[in-house]
Amino acid sequence: MSRGHALPTVEAIDIPGRYRHILPRPQQPNFAAYIEGVDLTQPLSADVKRELNQALLDFEVIFLPPQRITLDQHVELASVFGPVAPGAFFPRQSGHPLVEVIEFDEHRKPEVNVWHSDLTWLAEPPNGTVIQIIEPPPIGGGTTWASLSRAHDALSPGLQQYLAGLTATHTWEISGWRDALDRLGGPQALAQALTKYKPVQHPVVRVHPDSGKKVLFVNENFTKQIDGVHFRESRGLLEFLREWIVQPEFTYTHKWEAHGIAIWDNRSTQHYALADYWPHRRVNNRVTFNRVTAGATTSSTYHQIVGQSEAAIA
Ligand SMILES: [Fe+2]
Repeated sequence: MSRGHALPTVEAIDIPGRYRHILPRPQQPNFAAYIEGVDLTQPLSADVKRELNQALLDFEVIFLPPQRITLDQHVELASVFGPVAPGAFFPRQSGHPLVEVIEFDEHRKPEVNVWHSDLTWLAEPPNGTVIQIIEPPPIGGGTTWASLSRAHDALSPGLQQYLAGLTATHTWEISGWRDALDRLGGPQALAQALTKYKPVQHPVVRVHPDSGKKVLFVNENFTKQIDGVHFRESRGLLEFLREWIVQPEFTYTHKWEAHGIAIWDNRSTQHYALADYWPHRRVNNRVTFNRVTAGATTSSTYHQIVGQSEAAIA
């Protein structure tokens, strides 16, 4: 038994060899990179767009320095990575239905301090998200991301092999959204959602379709069970994986500055928005995007069911 951490051995990406137009500065080997050389107030060249996409695959979450951009430019930035998705359940910026506003203050307690990938209860969760913080709190309010590929690669080969043959059931019904739906939309909205959005299954180990990395694709917010095993085995495995994934060695916490931007790959990361700033105010804008080949998402329909809300499901 080893008590030292079984950190994955990774071949570090050859940054000077791969990147000519932007400069990624990763905070861990192949994870969480600050990007230099991108001015969003100017049109982005095809080379910069290509390298930004490469950086998202290579580093899983990337950060752009604070800069003032319009809401249209925010949407434009998301479209660099894929077709812009309708998002989920948060209120929208006036006149910009693709830009969700996530706003908490002394009257609205933060509700997104739970580990998750966005919308894994859909058969096709969104590929990723672009967030810009508009009003950071005076203290706290960081966001932590976990690398699901680093967490996978650090497991023992035997457990990797066992998990690779399993699927898990994901559903919004076990998240805070069930209560929120009941509260905001009433029993009818809840019943409608229960009928329309059935649990879905995803492999426990997914092979990322664009990077080829293997990732652990279970999360504490939406993963109900490991399929086909005794419920105690399922419960034990999920608890073990939850704890494994969020070890500090696989996570990075970003401290926001006003107008800073983060872009993450929803397929290879989980995130957790720290609620440590409450009762201060924190506001950010969010736009999600799909895979280039993905079909229309169903989340817009879901949004219609409940109207605008501060729901804690996304
Ligand atoms: Fe989220």
